[in-house]
Amino acid sequence: MRILVTGSDGQLGQALRAVLEPDHEVLWGDLPDLDVRKPTELRKLALGQRPELILHLAACTDVDLCEREPERAFAVNTRGTRNVALAAREVGARMVFVSSDYVFDGSQSRAYQEYDTPAPLNQYGWSKLHGERAVRDLVPEHCVVRTSGLFGPGGRNFARSIWEAQRRQSVLRVVCDQTCRPTYSRDLASALGSLISGGHLGVFHVASQGAARWCDFARAVVQAAGGEGTRVVEISSDELGRPARRPVHSVLATHVFEELTGGVLPHWREGLAAYIRDLRAAGEG
Ligand SMILES: NC(=O)c1ccc[n+]([C@@H]2O[C@H](COP(=O)([O-])OP(=O)(O)OC[C@H]3O[C@@H](n4cnc5c(N)ncnc54)[C@H](OP(=O)(O)O)[C@@H]3O)[C@@H](O)[C@H]2O)c1
Repeated sequence: MRILVTGSDGQLGQALRAVLEPDHEVLWGDLPDLDVRKPTELRKLALGQRPELILHLAACTDVDLCEREPERAFAVNTRGTRNVALAAREVGARMVFVSSDYVFDGSQSRAYQEYDTPAPLNQYGWSKLHGERAVRDLVPEHCVVRTSGLFGPGGRNFARSIWEAQRRQSVLRVVCDQTCRPTYSRDLASALGSLISGGHLGVFHVASQGAARWCDFARAVVQAAGGEGTRVVEISSDELGRPARRPVHSVLATHVFEELTGGVLPHWREGLAAYIRDLRAAGEG
């Protein structure tokens, strides 16, 4: 299949190379050559390349930056997604859009199903939710994949920050009142590969097995790094004082994906072990 990927230099885009390249003809696009804020250029690219599927990953993913500069968040995550959707519609391409657990407010104690009502707490979440709506309104054949807490090679992520911090600091203050399903980018990339090759449509929650509070995830990183001298101290989100509010319990239920594809992502602990191997192989251990 002929596939156009936006935001392809990011964490997930890099993980997708090994999954898509063997079986598909892929056009990888990212800034500055492919800017989803530019509808005319995007349309020209789509008309010239005629992709059968557009996998839209491009996003402003810095949640606190989105809170401080909402116009930037909406320009990329909402209007940019709308531009991609219009291009997909024009060339009759299927569209796969990667969205976020932050479309939910995290107030329910059970895991979030695809049919639960979104209610974002921050600008990033709203900008992704409006992006989802544009895709659903404009592209007849679409797939929205919500995921959470991505970590993997080639990007900034929580695991990497802890990995680096435990080398320098003997005490790490980490929030204990936010729980999600941290997800290894290579495992998500495989899942996206199976959704694409299976032609699946609709909304899917896809995440690594197991839920974790960020403080527990941090302890697992410290342990894997052998940083016995480093202590993780639990703090509240209020103490951390970030600009954007985060959901307390944005745990995604993944039954729909599992029932339809027969696939289950490995546990986040397995993903973390693989990521640590990635870091060491890159000489960062
Ligand atoms: N990271 C997470 O924890 C997480 C959780 C849930 C869902 N998601 C979603 O999963 C997707 C992939 O995430 P990721 O972690 O791979 O993100 P990432 O590493 O931040 O990659 C996003 C890529 O999009 C690029 N981009 C930004 N603005 C663009 C524009 N106007 N036009 C074209 N490209 C642009 C970025 O370039 P620059 O780096 O130069 O800005 C970056 O290369 C995103 O849609 C994100 O919202 C992520």
